[in-house]
Amino acid sequence: MSQEALENLLHENRVFPPTAEFAAQANATGAMYDEAAQDRLGFWAEQARYLSWATDFTEVLDWSDAPFAKWFADGRLNVAYNCVDRHVDNGFGNQVAIRFEGEPGDRRDITYAELKDEVCKAANALTELGVTAGDRVAIYMPMIPEAIVAMLACARIGAAHSVVFAGFSAEALRSRIDDAQAVLVITADGQNRRGSAMALKPAVDEAVAETPSVRNVLVVRRTGSDVAWNADRDIWWHEFVEQQSTEHEPEAFDAEHPLFILYTSGTTGKPKGILHTSGGYLTQAAFTHRNVFDLKPDEDVYWCTADIGWVTGHSYIVYGPLANRVTQVVYEGTPDTPNKDRWWDIIERHKVTLFYTAPTAIRTFMKWGDELPKSHDLSSLRLLGSVGEPINPEAWMWYREVIGGDNCPIVDTWWQTETGAIMISPLPGVTGCKPGSAMGALPGIGMAVVDDHATPVGNGGGGYLVLTEPWPSMLRGIWGDPERFKETYWSRFPGMYFAGDGAKLDDDGAIWLLGRVDDVMNVSGHRISTTEVESALVSHEAVAEAAVVGAADETTGQGIVAFVILRGGLPEETAKGEQLVQDLRNHVAHEIGPIAKPRQIMVVPELPKTRSGKIMRRLLRDVAEHRDMGDVTTLADPTVMNLIATGLETSSGED
Ligand code: WTA
Repeated sequence: MSQEALENLLHENRVFPPTAEFAAQANATGAMYDEAAQDRLGFWAEQARYLSWATDFTEVLDWSDAPFAKWFADGRLNVAYNCVDRHVDNGFGNQVAIRFEGEPGDRRDITYAELKDEVCKAANALTELGVTAGDRVAIYMPMIPEAIVAMLACARIGAAHSVVFAGFSAEALRSRIDDAQAVLVITADGQNRRGSAMALKPAVDEAVAETPSVRNVLVVRRTGSDVAWNADRDIWWHEFVEQQSTEHEPEAFDAEHPLFILYTSGTTGKPKGILHTSGGYLTQAAFTHRNVFDLKPDEDVYWCTADIGWVTGHSYIVYGPLANRVTQVVYEGTPDTPNKDRWWDIIERHKVTLFYTAPTAIRTFMKWGDELPKSHDLSSLRLLGSVGEPINPEAWMWYREVIGGDNCPIVDTWWQTETGAIMISPLPGVTGCKPGSAMGALPGIGMAVVDDHATPVGNGGGGYLVLTEPWPSMLRGIWGDPERFKETYWSRFPGMYFAGDGAKLDDDGAIWLLGRVDDVMNVSGHRISTTEVESALVSHEAVAEAAVVGAADETTGQGIVAFVILRGGLPEETAKGEQLVQDLRNHVAHEIGPIAKPRQIMVVPELPKTRSGKIMRRLLRDVAEHRDMGDVTTLADPTVMNLIATGLETSSGED
């Protein structure tokens, strides 16, 4: 973010205090902050009591083996029971849990009683396939109810799921299956995207050809497209799961029993398997969902537009909302199919009251124009949420005025795959909101903005965002790599969790997130590491060296810009061709997935490096954003910047 943009942000003086009307009915109270400040562990214990425990816990936090936390360690529970069965037991079996809408327009309402039957059948199916507690199951699925059923079935039998976003490539899927040693993959024949069927099964076939740990592939029929079939390994969901019994006894597991692994990009080429466990995770996911979204289970219709492939889908479609007995919309497709008002149409028809989406989407809709949302009745909405990246004040105001009819609190929620649940956000009905600010830490959360020496900066200062106290839904480690866990998050500022984000506190102490300070990019709210894209580029035969940066992008937050040096001896036509740039972009899409496709690739003769050989990304970012280059005196060869600037004119490959 440029200094000027930052100054403008910090002089944002519009504040929207809670309305008396909202405050009078809000779940959250100002007293929560005081209670948690006086007795943090007591506060979390109280939140944990919203869950149903098979065996009550006596200890709240064990931090003796820091940074490996244990929360509620001697308690036992079943996560799926908490998300499904107990609502049926409490007499809410007929309440609709999921209002599914497929992209082609097919609809399906699933009650809690029906969801329970589906989860039980799937749990029996997994057991019949030999999946047992402690195993890992990879899920590579579109946004259809079976994806949620699959996750809950794993939770029910104590197998950890590893959901891989269905937009990732076969290679990305393979490496994740392999790292977790998954025994089963659950997938679909395909998914509906932009009006046509996009295949998924071929990527699974390609991936499992090289993952001997996988014994079976369970396939949901969604699009009806033809698929290749390996009769020794592949099983149709509609044949195998459907015939199972709806009776299944949920077994209680330790609160620290693994619930899922979710891979996320770090600063190296190898994604990290972030491990979450059961009791603490569910406690904080449910607490935040209840209070940040003000859920009233008997009245609200909630819709989170995330995909289950990301952590937002885990915590705010599956676990938090279902634990709280939500009624929610699940939509399979893209926002522009069949028309660019599909989302507003969904909100109007389902009378959505609570809506959670990402700034990228909001900025895209701003570009598409006010007429589309204005042609729909969105008056059912009573609260709006934002997640995934900093939301600029213009987008925030547009969201408030055009979508929220000037009448909804906006909760800008900061959190990460690693934090498991929301950490920083206003509490609606309690906290005022400033356009573009996530305001402050939630009750029970210890947060600070510190300088290089780990000293808190105080109001008006900027620095690094850290978390100063363990929290219930914190990651319990990186799968198979305890050293990397300590090194990545706990070594920079001893005793504190370093989030990797820069932040500023304004004069009132409200927090402004400034984006990543490490080599992780945030493209449309998706984390992609620069190194991962660089590795993909150098795996192409034409590339000798690559450097990747995230450059500011009006819609996607950041766009991926790559600088590549080609290998010597390539035929001249190849080395110059537009075709090569296209090939490289497609190569990255093939290696990682279309979301990692560089916006721009510049073929350059040199890269700027310090004398110690480190690539100076800051300079490349300046080039990519067309800024003045500033200080280049630490460069080994300052003239390379001129060479690169020349390259910029000739070989960008935007489409
Ligand atoms: C960024 C997504 C500003 C941040 C839940 C963080 C945000 C990364 C916000 C985590 C927000 C998330 N304001 N930045 N409200 N929410 N981020 O793991 O850089 O996909 O470190 O989790 O997204 O991304 P992840």
